[in-house]
Amino acid sequence: MDKATLTLDGTTYDLDVVVGSEGEVGIDISKLRSTTRAITLDPGYTSTGSCKSAITFIDGEKGILSYRGYPIEQCAEDSSFEEIAYLIIWGELPNAQQLAQFKGQLKEHEAIPAPLVAQFDALPAALHPMAALSSMVVSLTGYYDATDDFDLDVIRLIAKFKALVALGYRRSQGLDFIEPGQADGYVADFVHMMYGKGDAVTEEALNKLLILHVDHEQNCSASTARMVGSSHVNLYATVSAAICALWGPLHGGANQAVIEMLEEIEAGGGDADEYVERAKDKTSGVRLMGFGHRVYKNFDPRARIIKKAADEILDQLDVDDPSLQIAKKLERRALEDPYFVERKLYPNVDFYSGIIYRALGIPVEMFTVMFALGRLPGWIAQTKEWLEDPKTRIHRPRQIYTGATRRDVVPLSER
Ligand code: SDX
Repeated sequence: MDKATLTLDGTTYDLDVVVGSEGEVGIDISKLRSTTRAITLDPGYTSTGSCKSAITFIDGEKGILSYRGYPIEQCAEDSSFEEIAYLIIWGELPNAQQLAQFKGQLKEHEAIPAPLVAQFDALPAALHPMAALSSMVVSLTGYYDATDDFDLDVIRLIAKFKALVALGYRRSQGLDFIEPGQADGYVADFVHMMYGKGDAVTEEALNKLLILHVDHEQNCSASTARMVGSSHVNLYATVSAAICALWGPLHGGANQAVIEMLEEIEAGGGDADEYVERAKDKTSGVRLMGFGHRVYKNFDPRARIIKKAADEILDQLDVDDPSLQIAKKLERRALEDPYFVERKLYPNVDFYSGIIYRALGIPVEMFTVMFALGRLPGWIAQTKEWLEDPKTRIHRPRQIYTGATRRDVVPLSER
């Protein structure tokens, strides 16, 4: 299949067809307007590809997710967060020497400037942690020139990000900031900065959760990174914008909304059936948070892994959280209900993750910050791929104008 034809106003046009390595078919419309003066229209981009990408593959119908060809199940089981971050950004799993060098670079650049800590303390106490994180990330440009060395900016951002997240946690608990460098390894050091000590169960749980969140192709925040990065602003500003996109409750903010939903159900007596009925009622303004996905029309493979991990981790930590049972009841109830079955709505990555974060003592308002910590390498990889494409151009979609046609301004005295 190499051509598609379009007939418009009696004229037939040939359009090139692109077939991806997993057999996906794309119709190249990049010359459509110059040849037909027509554009396509696809609000929300349900059928529109913004790019070719070699980073992450999702088969939404089959519930398949892979990072650079490696199945998510294997990535989450057998690797460190550093290995998967390296894979997603530079395309291959590091060998021992490359991993040691990468870890050494992260260690070399992990400190954050003392004035940045003071800047964080000056932020309004009521500021949401995602707003604080976004502002702190873009503030890094006040301390480090965004260099022409993209890879140095990559190292700096990843290295310092965990300190910014841990700083937010410590301050939310009224605790002193713990400087990075307390333990060997990205997640181990992050745990130490968060809790003041290491803990094997917590480190293993967070390593798995961060890996599961590393990338997810052209989601809202990754597309934001490509959009903002395409203006050739620096990587720090690009990531700061992506953090704000992730904050939304329809996107990464759903992990916080899920726990708030479960708490509401628990406070109301734990009646999952009543909540599901409300989520089906369009006038209720309520959705089953953590359910549904633009791409997955089957189980989100990450949700399967996280659900299994939630059982294991709460058992290891000896935590009995009624929210987990309520979540399982909601899942069973929804998956039997024609409303959800017909619309192919399944649990997504956010449905169970908050239950683990809460068991680890992370405040609900910081759940999406944890999502951002995991997603950072993905945002970087997506931006890097876009900027390295020799055909890269600024993202600038077109529109179909439906407003008032030509008319003259009437003087105020006559209006
Ligand atoms: C993430 O894109 C990614 O890859 C994102 C992500 C990543 O890793 O980056 O996977 C992370 O953001 C996961 C999604 C987290 N969000 C939520 O859990 C919020 C709840 N879910 C939704 O609002 C919704 O499902 C979306 C936003 C996830 C997807 O929205 P779409 O694709 O625009 O689907 P839609 O809103 O058009 O819904 C289609 C139908 C509608 O009903 P009808 O008009 O056909 O009658 O399904 C209904 C919707 O009302 N519907 C839901 C529902 N989700 C969709 N009804 C009740 N509860 C829900 N959760």
